[in-house]
Amino acid sequence: MGLLLNHRTYSTNAESVDSPIVWREQVSEHQDWFPVPESATKDTHCSAADYNRLYTASISDPDSFWAEQAKRIDWFTAPTKVGNWSYDPVSIKWYEDGVLNLCHNAVDRHVAAGKGDAIAFIFEPDEPSKPSRKVSYAALQAEVIRMANTLKKMGVAKGDRVTIYMPMVVEGAVAMLACARIGAIHSVVFGGFSPEALAGRIEDCASRFVICADSGLRGGKHVPLKANVDAALERVSGVEGVLVIEHTGDPCNMTPHRDHWYHEYGADVPSECPCEPMNAEDPLFILYTSGSTGKPKGVLHTIGGYSVWTATTFHYVFDYKPGEVFFCSADIGWVTGHSYVVYGPLQNGATSLIFEGIPSYPDNGRFWDIVDRHQVNIFYTAPTALRALMRDGDAPVKARSRKSLRLLGTVGEPINPEAWRWYHATVGEGKLPIVDTWWQTETGGTMITTLPGAHGMKPGSAGRPFFGIRPQLVDAEGQVIADEGDTRGDVSGNLCITHSWPGQARTVYGDHERFEQTYFSTYKGKYFTGDGCRRDGDGYWWITGRVDDVINVSGHRMGTAEVESALVLHDKVAEAAVVGFPHEIKGQGIYCYVTLNAGEEPGAELESELRMQVRQEIGPIASPDHIHFTPALPKTRSGKIMRRILRKIAENDFGALGDTSTLADPSVVDSLIEGRKNR
Ligand code: WT7
Repeated sequence: MGLLLNHRTYSTNAESVDSPIVWREQVSEHQDWFPVPESATKDTHCSAADYNRLYTASISDPDSFWAEQAKRIDWFTAPTKVGNWSYDPVSIKWYEDGVLNLCHNAVDRHVAAGKGDAIAFIFEPDEPSKPSRKVSYAALQAEVIRMANTLKKMGVAKGDRVTIYMPMVVEGAVAMLACARIGAIHSVVFGGFSPEALAGRIEDCASRFVICADSGLRGGKHVPLKANVDAALERVSGVEGVLVIEHTGDPCNMTPHRDHWYHEYGADVPSECPCEPMNAEDPLFILYTSGSTGKPKGVLHTIGGYSVWTATTFHYVFDYKPGEVFFCSADIGWVTGHSYVVYGPLQNGATSLIFEGIPSYPDNGRFWDIVDRHQVNIFYTAPTALRALMRDGDAPVKARSRKSLRLLGTVGEPINPEAWRWYHATVGEGKLPIVDTWWQTETGGTMITTLPGAHGMKPGSAGRPFFGIRPQLVDAEGQVIADEGDTRGDVSGNLCITHSWPGQARTVYGDHERFEQTYFSTYKGKYFTGDGCRRDGDGYWWITGRVDDVINVSGHRMGTAEVESALVLHDKVAEAAVVGFPHEIKGQGIYCYVTLNAGEEPGAELESELRMQVRQEIGPIASPDHIHFTPALPKTRSGKIMRRILRKIAENDFGALGDTSTLADPSVVDSLIEGRKNR
C-alpha cells in the first residue's frame, strides 16, 4: 500500500518533536506501585521497549505510523493520504481517499480467511437458567446480511440515519453491523433512556427508521422498549419504519405499515448483500452525549479512522491473543459498547461476550459466574460496578474460580485506589494486570492507559498516552503547564490533546460550529477534554474528573443543565441548580437545589413528583439523589448563580466556600448550609 506522507495542515500550535521522549524508567515517587506482572510479559504485543519505540515513532512521524497501523484492516482502495487535520479552523480527516467497509473488516474478511467457525459472540442472557448462545463468524455474517437486506426492504439507503434502541442482545450488534454494511449511519440510544429522550435523539438527526426489541430484560425486570418507541413517536414525526425484534415475547402494539416484526418481514429477504464500498470519511455513527450546556450532542464518527483506531487500541490495550474470550460489560448504548463490545473485538477476530443483565442479578457473583461459565480471559468493567460489588465483601468472588482471567480493565470514571486494590487483590488474586483506560465518546477509543506488558500500575492513575496521543496540561488562561515531552513531575491542569488521532470525532451532527465551540474554543487550536488531570514525576497521568458542568453518575455522563431543564418543566418550580457530589457507589450523585414559585410549598409529594419528572425527561439514570428546596439561590449582583458555592455545600464542605462577598445576598449561604446539615 503506497502511502504519501505529511498531508497535515498544521494547526496554530503544532510543533514538531525532534527528541524522543524518555521517562525515568525507575519509578520512585510513589510507593503505591505495582510492577508489570511476570505473566503479562509473556507473548505480549508490546513490551516496555516496544512501547518506547512505537510511541516515539508515532509522535515523530505520525503519518508513517498510522499508515502502518492501517494495514491491520482490509481496504477496497488503499489510502494514499493519512492525517489531514487542523484544529483552527476545525477540519479533521484521516485516510481520506481510502475506500473500505467496517462490516467487511469485522465479519466477512474473517469468514473469507477460513475462520468462519470461530466464535464472534457469546450471549449470556439476563436469566442465568436460560441457555447461553454462541454465534460463529459465519453465522454472524448470515445474520447481518439478513438484517441488512431487511433494512433495505424497509427503504433504508446509504447515508440514512437509523436509530437503534435495543437491549444487550446479539441482535443489537447485528443491527449496528447491518447499518455499517449498507452505509447507513446508526444512532444507538441506550435502552434506559426515556421516550422523551429517545424522541429528542430521533428528531435531532431526522432519523426515519428505528430498530427496537419488544422489550428488554435487566435483573428480571422487563423494559418496555417498543412501548417507549410508540410513546416517542407520538412526540416526533417523520419515522417511516420500525423494525421490531421479538425477544421476550411481550405483546406489542403494531402500527400498520410503519411497524414490522423482524421475524416476519425479514423472513424472505435475499441471502446475499455485498458490503457497500464507503469512503473513509463517510459517517459511521452518531452517538449522543451530554455536555455542559444545551441538549445532548450527536457526536459523529467516520469509518476509516475509527476502524483503525478501535482495531489498534483493542489489539494493544487488551493484548488480545486469538482464541481468548473478551468480556466488556458496557451496554452498546454507550461508546464503550460500540468500540469494545462490537467493533474493536470483531475487527481483531476476537470472541466478545454480550451480557444482557446486571452485575447484581441474581446475586453479586454474577460477573464471576459468567467468567467461569465462559472461561473469560479479559474482563473490562466500570469502577461503579466494582464499588457496588466490593460492598458485599470477598465471599461472592472467592466462591468462583476465576482461573481463566488474565487481564482486568476499567473505564468510565476515575477509579478510587481502594476499589482498584480490591479489584487487584480479590478479583485478580494480586496477580493480574489492570488497565485503567481513560477516553471519551469523542475520542472513539482509549487515549491514556497502561499497556499490560509494558507498564507498571499505580492505583488511580490511567497511566501513559497511547500511540499518537499528545496530552497537554494547561491552566485556566491556556498557559502550558506540561507536555508529554517534558519530565516535570506533580503538575496539574486542564487536559488538552494537541494533535489529532484517527479515532477522533469529526463533528457534532448538523452543527459543526457547536463542535468547534465546545471542544476547540476554550483553548484555541487544542482539543479540550473537559477533564482535570495531574501528571506525576514518573510520567503517569491521573484524571481527576470533569472541570465543566458535566457529572459522571455511575459512569454515565450527564449535563447538570439537562437535569435543571427537566426540573423547571414542573409548573411549581421557579428555578433549579444541579451539581454533583461525591457518592460512595456512583462516583458522583445528583444534588438539586430547587426554588419554587410564590405560594408553592415544598414537601415529600412534590419531591417525588420532581423525581418522576426527571426520570420522564431523561431516564432512571438521572434520578436525583437530593432535592433541596430553598427560598433562594446564591447569585452575584448580576444574577449569575454561583455554582462553586453550591458544589461545596453539596459536598458538605462548608469551610472552603471562598469569596462570598460578591453575592447579592450573602445570608442565602447560611440558610443553604443549615438546610444541608439537616439532610
Ligand atoms: C468521561 C467521558 C470512555 C468511555 C466511557 C465514558 C470520564 C472515562 C475514565 C478513566 C477517569 C474517566 C472522564 C471523561 N472517564 N474513563 N479511566 N479515568 N475518568 O465515555 O460518557 O464520553 O465520558 O468519562 O471524565 O471525560 P463518556
